[in-house]
Amino acid sequence: MTTGKEKRAGGSQSARAGKPKAKDKDVHTMKRFQSSESQRRYSRQMRDKGKRIGFVPTLGALHEGHLALIRKARSQGDIVVVSIFVNPLQFGPGEDYDRYPRDLARDMDLARENGVDAIFVPEVAEMYPPEFAAKISMGPMTEKMCGASRPGHFDGVCTVVMKLLGVVQPHRLYLGRKDAQQLRILERMIEDLNLDVKVTACPTVREKDGLAVSSRNVVLSKAHREQAPRLYAALRLAQREILVEHVRDPQMLTRKMREHIESGSEIDIEYIAVIDPETFEDLPTLTGRVLIAVAARLGDVRLIDNIQINVPGGRMAEGFATGRTPRPSGR
Ligand code: PAJ
Repeated sequence: MTTGKEKRAGGSQSARAGKPKAKDKDVHTMKRFQSSESQRRYSRQMRDKGKRIGFVPTLGALHEGHLALIRKARSQGDIVVVSIFVNPLQFGPGEDYDRYPRDLARDMDLARENGVDAIFVPEVAEMYPPEFAAKISMGPMTEKMCGASRPGHFDGVCTVVMKLLGVVQPHRLYLGRKDAQQLRILERMIEDLNLDVKVTACPTVREKDGLAVSSRNVVLSKAHREQAPRLYAALRLAQREILVEHVRDPQMLTRKMREHIESGSEIDIEYIAVIDPETFEDLPTLTGRVLIAVAARLGDVRLIDNIQINVPGGRMAEGFATGRTPRPSGR
């Protein structure tokens, strides 16, 4: 059934000029919802039929990172719902809200081709009507690292995700490890508020040269694009220092990373954090599971990346020097 606010994606309203329509492409039909009410009705119907719903929230400008989440959701559930909403609450003044890339026709083609069943594309007024008053506030864990330079950002993320979960009512929520702080904060929110949804964390998808895929990569200048892979190279360097050279001093590690990133480049480091992946506390010495995260600016483009490392302890560490650098565990 199609309601007034609901559209059949792939029909003449959504297909790009000159592109084949869905019916010509032998791909399944995808529903498109603009109102929360129609999306929620669809989700309820699917749940009533016993279908398992996987949900991938996005800001749009879909890329391989998003598609990996979609494919994971496809492989684990019956119904895949994707939201595309450039959430004004999570952008600060002077950030790239207005410049954020928007291409709904392209996103819908990609979503459909990757087996998405329904796409939720609300307008700002639908999500935040004038009387809207709710706000999720997650406290100190939102204030460090990315939160330090983006005050209010994570509360904006939590508020929109809370709302989207209420609308989409998924069984599983798919999030990327690329945004490690966002992932941890959302997991905390879901736990704190007893929400009935399981989180699947998906590994970071990278370009061939190691740069984490991001919608912001395409706006890098040629020179900056060439320098950007240094962020991941520095994370790999840190991994080698820990696993092969037995470095256990976080400050020594960050110093080496900083040198590696900055020498002869225009990269402006915002932070390098070596922290406990659960609590985000700084670590006096490297032991157990360690999250190494970096944020940097190239011109006016801000990039982030991270890896998680299991630091071998005690006697294990002594026999560990194999000379080989193991690949990071996909984080
Ligand atoms: P967005 O940046 O569009 O990312 C949507 C999801 O894709 C997030 O879970 C993010 O971690 C994941 N992702 C992005 N790049 C990735 C990559 N290279 N590899 C793996 N996963 C990747 O994050 C947001 O949107 C928003 O804050 C949102 C959660 C939608 C709330 O508005």
